[in-house]
Amino acid sequence: MSAQTMQTPIPPTETQPAVRCHGVTKTYGQGNAAVQALRGVDLDVGMGELLMLVGPSGCGKTTLISVLAGLLQRDGGDCSVLEHDYGQMSPPETTRFRGRNIGFVFQTFQLIPALTAAENVATPLLINGVKWRAALERAGAVLRNLGFDDRMIQALPADLSGGQQQRVAVARAMVHDPRMIVCDEPTSALDSESGRMVMSLMRQFALGKDRVLVVVTHDARIFEFADRIARMEDGRITGIEDAPRRESDPQRDP
Ligand SMILES: Nc1ncnc2c1ncn2[C@@H]1O[C@H](COP(=O)(O)OP(=O)(O)O)[C@@H](O)[C@H]1O
Ligand SMILES: [Mg+2]
Repeated sequence: MSAQTMQTPIPPTETQPAVRCHGVTKTYGQGNAAVQALRGVDLDVGMGELLMLVGPSGCGKTTLISVLAGLLQRDGGDCSVLEHDYGQMSPPETTRFRGRNIGFVFQTFQLIPALTAAENVATPLLINGVKWRAALERAGAVLRNLGFDDRMIQALPADLSGGQQQRVAVARAMVHDPRMIVCDEPTSALDSESGRMVMSLMRQFALGKDRVLVVVTHDARIFEFADRIARMEDGRITGIEDAPRRESDPQRDP
């Protein structure tokens, strides 16, 4: 065996999936008003994977990613995220776990109106004990990566366009380097170029690291940034396929 061969790292024999769901159910409301949003979701997502989730409105996409992010409790089934089961954790443990490990991009952005773009983005860092000045510097750097200038970094959400607000929401989900990011339609308010900017940043985030992304989208323009695309219908995952590959992206190859 040559020295070169001996130096080649041995790949792990078995990688623990980042997300493992089996038979996950969730019903909103009771009695006649009950809506079964999740009817037995089976889904595995690997570490380092960017999975996109597609399906018609009302099929349960937002419910599912809210369960994955620990924002909503499932009713039944098994679900582990980063080797943790929210069902086994107390509310404070869940909050702490989420604060460190999860980034969430909400469909409606959910920015804090009285805070500047940079202050909004800095909040997950402040929650994790980073000092104010360092947090704002890091927040500014992430926003610059998403095309923001100094004026936009200091602006309040109301003074930003929808697309700019969406980029603030994306920056806030990434700034604390969480192990999992879940996004609800992160490019819906973006033009093609900004959408690609956001997705290539997310792609970089997922690459070769102990990271995982689940992205709900209707936007066929960004499918090529996924590893796999899962289809959801009527509260279940009905199929998963490999995403269309880009010839020009050597980083995508293992
Ligand atoms: N808070 C809620 N209360 C009652 N029903 C809800 C609530 N949130 C979602 N639903 C219902 O659950 C189903 C799945 O919703 P959702 O997960 O938002 O789907 P999607 O994101 O795919 O559009 C829909 O029928 C929706 O109306
Ligand atoms: Mg939704």
